[in-house]
Amino acid sequence: MQRFRGPAVSFGGHFREKFIPLVMAVLSCFYPGTASLAQDSVAPVEHTRVLADHLKGASRYHVAPGEDTIPNDKYGDDVRLGKKIFTETYKYGRRYAGNDLACANCHLEAGRRPNAGPMWAAYGMYPAYREKNDRSNSLEERIQQCFLFSMNGFAPALDAPELRALISYIHFLSRGVPIGIDMPGRGYPQVVRTGSDPNPKRGGDTYKAKCASCHGVNGAGEKKAGGGYTWPPLWGMDSYNKGAGMAGNDLLAGFIKANMPLGQPWSLTDQEALDVAAYINLQIRPYDPRKGLLKGLFD
Ligand code: HEC
Ligand code: HEC
Repeated sequence: MQRFRGPAVSFGGHFREKFIPLVMAVLSCFYPGTASLAQDSVAPVEHTRVLADHLKGASRYHVAPGEDTIPNDKYGDDVRLGKKIFTETYKYGRRYAGNDLACANCHLEAGRRPNAGPMWAAYGMYPAYREKNDRSNSLEERIQQCFLFSMNGFAPALDAPELRALISYIHFLSRGVPIGIDMPGRGYPQVVRTGSDPNPKRGGDTYKAKCASCHGVNGAGEKKAGGGYTWPPLWGMDSYNKGAGMAGNDLLAGFIKANMPLGQPWSLTDQEALDVAAYINLQIRPYDPRKGLLKGLFD
């Protein structure tokens, strides 16, 4: 879902000419690009540029601040713990995870990669209305849902240390991202409907040719010594459940198109991505916890 649709408000040409320099001027009060700040990191200047480009409609991606800028204080400790939970959920988020996946298996590069559900693009967009539960959701609640569905586990309490640490980590990655602006690279791109139905049989052939070498012919992936996966499973009882975002064919196709095969993003055609997604989502996986086991068995 290339969610970026240009600035939320469409500025007339004249207004735009006035508006952008104004934004730049206001921003430069907060982020003076002076040499004295250089050692702090180049990030603030970079953010200003990204935001300015963004307002002009250019799609440059936000670059999350480097690890070396995590402060050495209690907040920084929480950020570091949050990153561990994000990348080794099966270990540090064990209490709530129902499978051996990690958040970072789907939110690539530890939540930094654009078009792979980057965390920095999410922070400023919550609270947000979700059809899934028909109300406005906080970022904490959104994360609870990934625990419930993608991790096939349990929702951590809002004050659980794991959830707080994840929020600190996401907050850190989002430094410099404006609130309420749908940043380019958010979520996963929308694959354009090709006009021909996704064909799981063709998808199976693509799967065997381009995916099975890592994820396995049986979709079970490969475990890593010490926990988690070297190659995560795409179906079976240790995968995401039927209520998860990835269980939606279009969304899964978008993820695949922009990120898989690993190291060869954007190499599949839209039709191939839709076909292989249909193939994957036809396989067995845990039921949707909202529906109950019996109904899930017959889905
Ligand atoms: C099996 C894949 C998978 C796993 C594992 C997973 N997620 Fe997600 N996550 C998704 C999908 C799919 C979406 C929906 C993206 C969309 O709707 O654009 C999503 C959305 C999100 C969002 C909202 C993003 C936005 O831009 O609004 C957040 C925050 C999030 N996940 C956090 C997490 C955290 C934290 C974990 C680990 C506890 C996690 N996810 C584990 C697949 C996954
Ligand atoms: C070179 C190995 C490799 C190949 C080939 C590959 N993947 Fe992946 N895939 C990975 C890795 C590794 C991850 C997890 C990414 C991470 O943790 O950084 C992943 C993650 C995924 C995920 C999300 C995580 C999950 O468990 O649901 C999906 C879906 C996926 N791949 C689908 C595919 C599809 C479809 C293909 C073929 C078009 C493919 N992959 C080819 C290595 C590979």
